[in-house]
This record gives sequence, C-alpha cells and structure tokens, in this order.
Amino acid sequence: MEVLEAIKTRRSIRHYKTDTVDDKTVQTVLEAAHWAPSWGNTQCWRFIVVRDAKTRAEVADSLLKIKFDNELVENAATIAIKQAPVLIVLCAEMGMAGCSPDGILVTDKGDYWFMFDTALAMENLTLAAHALGLGTVIVGGFDAGKTAEILGVPEGLRVVTMTPLGFPDHRGQISPRKELSDVIFNEKYGQ
Ligand SMILES: Cc1cc2nc3c(=O)[nH]c(=O)nc-3n(C[C@H](O)[C@H](O)[C@H](O)COP(=O)(O)O)c2cc1C
Repeated sequence: MEVLEAIKTRRSIRHYKTDTVDDKTVQTVLEAAHWAPSWGNTQCWRFIVVRDAKTRAEVADSLLKIKFDNELVENAATIAIKQAPVLIVLCAEMGMAGCSPDGILVTDKGDYWFMFDTALAMENLTLAAHALGLGTVIVGGFDAGKTAEILGVPEGLRVVTMTPLGFPDHRGQISPRKELSDVIFNEKYGQ
C-alpha cells in the first residue's frame, strides 16, 4: 500500500476477529516501528508483545473509565484488547530522549521527548499494520502503574501506550478532521 493511501485510510479499530497473527507479521510491524526517527537516534522505545489471553484481560481491566453525562463509561478499547490475539505495549526507557550524550536535558521540554519518539514509533506501527490488513487502536486512557506491575516493567522505564493488533471485524468509522485552513497558517501564527 502506498504511504499516502495508508495514512488516509487507516482507522482506529475497536472490534477484532480472534484469528491469530503470526510471529513474522508481528515482527514486520515492529520493525517498521523501530525504523522511526528518534532524538539523537537514541531509540528509547521498548515493545512488549502480549499474546496470553489472561494477561491481555488484566491489562484491559487497567483501562480507565471516563465520566460522560454523569456516568462512568468503559474505555472503548477495552473489548478490543480482549478480542485481538496480540497486544503491543510500548514503553520508553528514560534518560535518553531530550538529553545530551552526557545525560543533560537540553530543551524547555525536559524529558517529554520520550513521548514524541514513542509516538513516532507507534504511528509507524499503526500504518505498517494497516498496510498488512491489520487493525490497531492507540490507547492512552489506562493506569500505567497497574500495567507496569502486570508486565514487570522495571524502574527507569515508563509505559506510554499500547495497541491491540489483529484482523479488523469492522471497517472503522471515519473520524472527521478539522478544516485544513483552521490549522495551517502562513508566515505568522493566525494568518
Ligand atoms: C494519544 C492517543 C490516545 C488515545 N487513547 C485512546 C483510548 O484510550 N481509547 C480509545 O478507544 N481510543 C484512543 N485513541 C484513538 C483516538 O480516539 C482516535 O485516533 C481518534 O478518534 C481519531 O480516529 P482515527 O484513529 O480512526 O483516525 C487515542 C489516540 C491517541 C493518538
């Protein structure tokens, strides 16, 4: 699939078939993530591939419920993590992104660059998965502490995000975007 087509046709997928995804395919998707650019090529991303259904269910239960119309609503990705055969959890090793080679933070954004680098990897991952006919949905609404405990993530790393990976059971709805003219300015902000 051509890159622009993949970018425009990818959708968040929240319902999956239970069909397995073979190791080679998972490897291909992770390799695409690993080719993302990163701060000083420090590659702070670490991926945990979870296939075990019980562990996936435990992680799914760490997703946060969101208050909506005075009711607590389950995160829409909860069922997706239980259904899809693979869950990829993306962690960041701290002390890399945002730092000079001798470990000093060099910008006003401190160490938040780990979010940027892992996001780039995740975007590559979602596009590669889509190009291979697989679905993903990036998940941010979860208890990172609980997930770290379930997966044995050591200190010095942060659990940033996760996505189920599997064959879509629906097409995924189109979430419309703002008008381009609302977000692009010329020469100066606001113009
Ligand atoms: C940082 C981030 C966090 C997200 N967290 C969640 C989440 O917790 N649950 C969920 O169902 N979708 C989550 N999403 C998916 C967004 O809702 C989705 O990308 C957006 O609505 C646009 O739809 P599209 O991905 O189909 O284009 C997240 C996306 C991003 C980028």
